[in-house]
Amino acid sequence: MKRLFSGIQPSGDLHIGNYLGAIRNWVRMLTEYDCIFCIVDYHAITISYEVETMQSRIINAAAECIACGLNPDECTIFVQSHVPEHTELAWIFNTVTPMGDLGRMTQFKEKSEQHKQNVNVGLFDYPVLQAADILIYKAEAVPVGQDQIQHIEFSRRVARAFNSRYGETFPEPFHLTPNIGRIMGLDGKSKMSKSLENHISLSDSPEAIKKKLATAVTDINRKRRNDPGNPEICNILTLHRLLSTEKEIEYVGTECRKAGIGCIECKMILAKNMTAELEPIRERARELKENPERVREVLEAGKRRCRTIAAETVREVKTKMGLL
Ligand code: AMP
Ligand code: TRP
Repeated sequence: MKRLFSGIQPSGDLHIGNYLGAIRNWVRMLTEYDCIFCIVDYHAITISYEVETMQSRIINAAAECIACGLNPDECTIFVQSHVPEHTELAWIFNTVTPMGDLGRMTQFKEKSEQHKQNVNVGLFDYPVLQAADILIYKAEAVPVGQDQIQHIEFSRRVARAFNSRYGETFPEPFHLTPNIGRIMGLDGKSKMSKSLENHISLSDSPEAIKKKLATAVTDINRKRRNDPGNPEICNILTLHRLLSTEKEIEYVGTECRKAGIGCIECKMILAKNMTAELEPIRERARELKENPERVREVLEAGKRRCRTIAAETVREVKTKMGLL
């Protein structure tokens, strides 16, 4: 079986962008690949955070991943900082990475704009650590949302640079990305993100989902109920495509175009389907969060497996580099 690796930041509750853009896909790959999933706490500390919340954020992220269907019997789940070899390999990769490559990364440019007061070296070096995450397991398949494609392409360049300098060691990983683009936020302006008030969390109640959808931006040219809308530019239709039946998608699309359905009615069909998909996840996540010991056991088992593989790769790398 080929190996698959992906990571997710412990940024509090996960949102439906994470779920629809990434995790739902990961679940479908469990039987096809040897899957490793990582809670990337060392990436999360590149922006300022509250120290007291970090442990619960890590447990919550793991609990929600498991609740979404990442069954620990079928995959490995662990915390990045529990396997210190990641940062060791990242240092080595720093020495085969041109600075210019990192300066061009869209995420770096966006984040250094958003966090002007804290543009630290870790934020700049973030993709190098990400390359180490993947390559330390010699993973080939990397399922991520569209926003991460640039980082996976960067990882390929790192693998190539290392291989050509020190001899064939790493496979060149490829990204697996659902063909849905990025999930936009409820503001209709930027991508759905935990740090912006434009998301629906996996832990939101059915009432909260309804309330958030009710105020979500639709086709801004459709000002009144009787104006025909353009579903192609409406974020609500994108979400319907991911959560509703063929019949419903067809119905809301056609009716929107001829003003046969109002935005609220359309949104309430979506709310019903979103709730049906998210309720079982929310329930399983709640049980797990109440039993953090169970989550810790999963992460502990993941750490043991990953450390063995990671130590072996680092030994091979250091030998090739004349460091052992
Ligand atoms: P993060 O929370 O940034 O660690 O993201 C975890 C996974 O969710 C990554 O594969 C991202 O590409 C994906 N993701 C995050 N936000 C979105 C979004 N708005 N649309 C699609 N995928 C997303
Ligand atoms: N940077 C990714 C994100 O923000 C998370 C991540 C870290 C990752 N390491 C990874 C994803 C390795 C895939 C592979 O979403």
